[in-house]
Amino acid sequence: MQHAALALDPAFRIAEVDPRLYGSFVEHMGRCVYTGIYEPGHETADGEGFRGDVAELVRELRTPVLRYPGGNFVSGYTWEDGIGPREDRPRRLDLAWRSYETNQVGVDEFATWARRMGSEPMMAVNLGTRGIDAARNLVEYTNHPSGTYWSDLRRRNGTAQPHGIKLWCLGNEMDGPWQIGHKTASEYARLAAETARAMRRVDPSIELVACGSSHQRMPTFGTWEETVLRETYDLVDYVSLHSYYEQRGDDRASFLASGVNMDRFIESVVATCDHARGVGQHRKRMNLSFDEWNVWYQSKFPGESNLDWAERPRLIEDEYSVVDAVVVGSLLISLLRHADRVKIACLAQLVNVIAPIRSEPGGPAWRQTTFHPFALTSRHGRGIVLRVEPAGPTYETSWMGEVPVVDATAVHDEETGAVTVFAVNRDQHEPLALDVDVRSWANLTVGEHVALFDDDPQATNTVGQPDRVTPTRLSDVKAADGTVTAVLPALSWNMIRLSGA
Ligand code: AHR
Repeated sequence: MQHAALALDPAFRIAEVDPRLYGSFVEHMGRCVYTGIYEPGHETADGEGFRGDVAELVRELRTPVLRYPGGNFVSGYTWEDGIGPREDRPRRLDLAWRSYETNQVGVDEFATWARRMGSEPMMAVNLGTRGIDAARNLVEYTNHPSGTYWSDLRRRNGTAQPHGIKLWCLGNEMDGPWQIGHKTASEYARLAAETARAMRRVDPSIELVACGSSHQRMPTFGTWEETVLRETYDLVDYVSLHSYYEQRGDDRASFLASGVNMDRFIESVVATCDHARGVGQHRKRMNLSFDEWNVWYQSKFPGESNLDWAERPRLIEDEYSVVDAVVVGSLLISLLRHADRVKIACLAQLVNVIAPIRSEPGGPAWRQTTFHPFALTSRHGRGIVLRVEPAGPTYETSWMGEVPVVDATAVHDEETGAVTVFAVNRDQHEPLALDVDVRSWANLTVGEHVALFDDDPQATNTVGQPDRVTPTRLSDVKAADGTVTAVLPALSWNMIRLSGA
């Protein structure tokens, strides 16, 4: 059997995990909102029309942040369409996804629902077709207590207390030519800076995210961030990153190395931010908001322009396999490894649209394979991330070159003393014995080893078989002489929990 080893020490701290690393994303796209989180006629719907079965799964994911309402959608969105009596709200064309938008859910309903899910809303403003005025009015509507036009309108619409939305995205993917109101870097930089100033005048306590590149293969990647930060460095708190992964052809070995790509992407943006800090002689260190990430089979998507106009169409409802779940698990490991700079991350999206939760109109809701590593990492990956340097075998990939077979990180909960190791075995055929040196702790005991793997790596969860793929509890972990050894099954995501005394 192959072997790998790593040593843990509570002194080797990367950073405390910001819980907002486990955020997700609700876009007005496909069936994420309508028949996803919201379906008034559904047998589990609450008084507001939100599905109870979906809500239960959302709570299980423990997502402290939910980004809303887009995505590409926001670049053509008129937020005022989604407030006030539902029967008066206009039906509009959503040009991003060629959909009919009924506006039955808007900022009031979403923010209230998100809080009930234990999440804070993270709101994006439209910097495509709109700008400073719409953005500052929205902050006044959501955050100002009362006594002004927009805050009193919110109160008349039924929300007496301000929503108190702290996190705001200054547009979405504004570097992308597909974006409605696409901008050059300098056009966006000026607009983002002035919008940030106005929004902060309404509420100085808000945190702002400037758009980084839509993805790392954009021709302007790097120079976009540089230009944007030149104008906005002192006005924003985060730069955004977006990245989606998929298996190309039969090259599963490369797909399994997606976490390596995410590491490099994050480190490139960190370098650009630090360069901007040096050049501008800024005091503060810029943090990152990885506010869209996931596995997405984009190659199967026909493209927006080929869609027929429809209301709540079935868009990009990818069905995730065991392999996809293992990749999602390793992307979470990459995010944790960079917890010193990545403070916010949003799994895109939450329900139906490339999502960990699926639902059928009038039917059930269920967990996709990817739900499991996310829910378990979100639950147990809290505390201090430790620096981990696994030593072990490597393999060659056509995409990322030579990569380690084992990807791992560890989190130390200083309150309970628990240590949790998250590890992926990228070997598709062989199990691997992982030795974890825990001599730095006097009395850690083995808690549990939970793994996600399957004889059929392409197995998925479906409406007919919602629990075809679930995590397995393994009883193989041994502890002796300060070393814990666990066997990671071939092609698996693993969580090994060690309890403090
Ligand atoms: O999450 C789907 C889409 O991906 C979002 O609308 C957009 O921001 C990104 O390109």
